Amino acid sequence: MEPVTLTTKRLELSAPRESDVEAIYEACQDRDTQRYTTVPSPYTHEHAADFVPRVAAQWSEGVHLTWAMREGDVLAGMIGLYRLDGAGGGELGYWVSPWSRRRGLLTEAARAVLAWGFSPDGARLERIEWRAVVGNEGSARAARTLGFRYEGLLRAGIAGKKGRVDAWIAGLLADDDATPQPWSVLAD
Ligand SMILES: CC(C)(COP(=O)(O)OP(=O)(O)OC[C@H]1O[C@@H](n2cnc3c(N)ncnc32)[C@H](O)[C@@H]1OP(=O)(O)O)[C@@H](O)C(=O)NCCC(=O)NCCS
Repeated sequence: MEPVTLTTKRLELSAPRESDVEAIYEACQDRDTQRYTTVPSPYTHEHAADFVPRVAAQWSEGVHLTWAMREGDVLAGMIGLYRLDGAGGGELGYWVSPWSRRRGLLTEAARAVLAWGFSPDGARLERIEWRAVVGNEGSARAARTLGFRYEGLLRAGIAGKKGRVDAWIAGLLADDDATPQPWSVLAD
């Protein structure tokens, strides 16, 4: 598959490129990104340099699709649809650069990615999953706002850096009403 570019009010979403490497390196020093995502820890320049061609190869394979979130010249984060199973399933994943957080940019980017993921002109998915380490409240709040329904706790559901950890799982179906629903694990 050729990389797809999506645009939102404030962002352009496009495949990561070599000129992003320094910003990716800086952003991935963040403690929460290392704790809650699969990025290596410690995160080196080499990891950032390897990431860009790896994502390009993944786009051509069509199983893991990653977009850089760009606000003008600023690298605001990475977002992607992962583990596309060829049978209508996939998973949403993301991190936002520490300098771009708490401004609704993740929500804005994810709405465009979900719309493309469900679209007959996009990935034609029927179900998109979200998984997070138990306690990742920021990510859970974002997923709830996007309309994901909380579905439960997966014991040892994520392979973490120090072994397997429990995970929250949520799902969004193509024909779900994306109005936020109550999540029993979030206080309000
Ligand atoms: C989680 C993360 C992606 C949120 O990005 P963001 O751009 O700040 O999110 P938004 O500004 O779009 O906010 C979305 C919602 O999450 C809430 N939120 C974001 N960060 C939060 C935090 N640290 N604590 C509590 N709530 C948080 C916002 O208040 C907002 O809630 P609302 O929709 O109910 O108003 C970002 O903090 C991050 O990259 N964290 C580290 C990596 C990570 O955890 N990735 C996800 C792995 S599953």
